[in-house]
Amino acid sequence: MSQGISDSHVQHAVDAALAAISGASSSAALKTVATEHTGDKSPLAHLNAQLRDAPPEKKAALGKLVGGARGRVAQALKDREAEINAAEQAARLTAERVDVTALPSRFREGARHPLSLLQDRVCDVFVGMGWEIAEGPELESEWFNFDALNFDADHPARAMQDTFFIDPPEHHLVLRTHTSPVQVRSMLERPLPLYVLAPGRVFRTDEFDATHLPVFTQFEGIAVDHGLTMAHLKGTLDHFVKAIFGPEAMIRLRPSYFPFTEPSAELDFWHPTFAGGARWIEWGGCGMVHPHVLRSAGIDPDEYSGFAFGMGVERGLMLRNGVQDMRDMAEGDIRFSQQFGMVV
Ligand code: DAH
Repeated sequence: MSQGISDSHVQHAVDAALAAISGASSSAALKTVATEHTGDKSPLAHLNAQLRDAPPEKKAALGKLVGGARGRVAQALKDREAEINAAEQAARLTAERVDVTALPSRFREGARHPLSLLQDRVCDVFVGMGWEIAEGPELESEWFNFDALNFDADHPARAMQDTFFIDPPEHHLVLRTHTSPVQVRSMLERPLPLYVLAPGRVFRTDEFDATHLPVFTQFEGIAVDHGLTMAHLKGTLDHFVKAIFGPEAMIRLRPSYFPFTEPSAELDFWHPTFAGGARWIEWGGCGMVHPHVLRSAGIDPDEYSGFAFGMGVERGLMLRNGVQDMRDMAEGDIRFSQQFGMVV
């Protein structure tokens, strides 16, 4: 039994196994150690196999020796495994720790669009003068969009605004080409005297380019009262542009033509700090409400007079904030809104 089982063989195998087990510092390392020291090719397995050849009288004692050794090593493995598992679990928990008291990272919800902000600002200026805000439908009847505003059936002005007509034609519906139909709706719906501002989206078959959008925004003003004149119109618009663009802004009215006003004027305004220098810039139309329009809303033009005006919000934004390309206002890029609008 020179090659046979001896105390020292067994002790040696156990010592080696225990040293390797306590030296293993991860479950992967421990698995390797387990294979080396308790697997089929390990010294202990080898010793165990040799029991077969042991002399019968020693078999029981040697069996107990080897069995005890294997038991100790198995127990040591089990203990070390529990330690390593606990350590690895603790490390994982530390690594995955969530600080529930930390402030959440902020999600950007978006920004208010600069057009909405300017539109609100315009409304505020008029509300400050005691005006009311009104809205009308974007899908409008041809009568409100054209007829009631004194466009003849074959008047070239009807074609002047490139209109989206809605099928079927006999329904006489259009996407409103301006906010002026709200003039007539307001006169029909509200008691006199009347001071109404109507912002909203309008539609024309325009190109989509730096200075045109097929969908854009206007605001319309109408005042109907006893004795209103162009002087009231001019005073109102003068106050308005100063409120929006600053006290240096000035306006001038240039004779023009619109079917629904008589006399009619283009509104120009001047500002010292325009890009490109101080100069007059055209920004909308205005005039005294045409007697035909008053009559189409059931108002007696001998008793009442009115003034009206209409302007584009996009153009206002270009002038006020130096926006170069109208398409930036329509494309919905959040960076545009963050630059000119209000981050929420
Ligand atoms: N509706 C006209 C347009 O879209 C603008 C306009 C001109 C409105 C004169 C008015 C006005 O109220 O009096 O071109």
